[in-house]
Amino acid sequence: MRLEVDGRPVDVAEGSSLLAAVEAAGVRLPTLCHDDRLTPSGSCRTCLVRADGRVAAACVTPATAGGTVETGGEDIAALRRDAVEIIVSALPPGAVDGTGSELARLCASLDIRPGTAAGTPGRGRDTSHPFVHLDADLCIACGRCVRMCSEVQGTFALTLTGRGADTVVAPGTGGLWAESDCVACGGCVDTCPTGAITEPGPGSGLTSATPRAARPDTVRTRTTCGYC
Ligand code: FES
Repeated sequence: MRLEVDGRPVDVAEGSSLLAAVEAAGVRLPTLCHDDRLTPSGSCRTCLVRADGRVAAACVTPATAGGTVETGGEDIAALRRDAVEIIVSALPPGAVDGTGSELARLCASLDIRPGTAAGTPGRGRDTSHPFVHLDADLCIACGRCVRMCSEVQGTFALTLTGRGADTVVAPGTGGLWAESDCVACGGCVDTCPTGAITEPGPGSGLTSATPRAARPDTVRTRTTCGYC
């Protein structure tokens, strides 16, 4: 199917999203809740475009034959920036400094400083599990870890709890991570865009931004793990 992105014709397969069409046109949109391995949720609104005259989240909107997509308008760029600012306003000051996370890179590209608003810090850390630690203050409730855990790993150990700006990831069983159904596959660490979920121990501070080759405890092995 053919459509137009920023005035250029693009061919994508039936069922593709606008995000796929935009990427096929060589345009890079900011994303936070999106991971190519997961079902799109459209929750963060950082990938907004104008499609056939309407504002739409590119990751969850299907491409249509003959459609037109605009990515570069100032109004759309402002809406995308607003979406990121709202997300990071709930983080503590300096929350992404030095993390090298997706969110840190996105904030840097937009010249946004997380936590300049009042924020709601103090959700606390859960370091009960030997292989997975959670810093709830860094959680933006994008749900990627929850989808990775359920869709890819098939474990269903995680959920989002709370309401509004207080929504954070938590073990689905309630209580501590160490008491949850987590099988320590590492999928949540790998997809977390903020560094809220990390691997402790050797290589402490590992996040999704850490290249696999730089993880000191990484070894190649055969496994039945759905994520690996
Ligand atoms: Fe599209 Fe989050 S990346 S809404």
